[in-house]
Amino acid sequence: TSVLILNGPNLNLLGTRRPEIYGSATLADVEELCRQEAGKLGLDTVFRQSNHEGQLVDWIQEAGTEVKAGRCIGAVLNAGAYTHTSIALHDAIEGAELPVVEVHISNVHRREEFRHHSYLSPVARGIVVGFGVYGYALAINGLYQATRT
Ligand code: DQA
Repeated sequence: TSVLILNGPNLNLLGTRRPEIYGSATLADVEELCRQEAGKLGLDTVFRQSNHEGQLVDWIQEAGTEVKAGRCIGAVLNAGAYTHTSIALHDAIEGAELPVVEVHISNVHRREEFRHHSYLSPVARGIVVGFGVYGYALAINGLYQATRT
């Protein structure tokens, strides 16, 4: 069984982009952290990043199929700025009935007002915000517990 970790726009720049906010870990470091954490739960990881909204929609739809086939527990999703703009991602998660934990590295609620609203939170199983890249580890554990029957 696998867990999907999906990253949206600009997260490929992790480590060099605003390190005072997002820290110094790179996306490769995050992938390794996720692999380790999922491994402790006996899960494989599928780790992806795209700057393109439609690509994220496609992956969410695919993951819904994988979950229904019993091959995947759901997705950890850091949609980056699409969090605050994308009805398409909201509809994709809802339509695919995909269990999703929404993750933000930074505490979006102590930042600009435009980061306070999320189109994804109403269709997320849970949300992890403000714990740096460690939030991905928390989200994997939360998703595992939430989807265990
Ligand atoms: C982010 C927060 C978003 O507001 C921002 O657009 C990002 C990263 C985070 O992980 O803190 O790209 O999702």
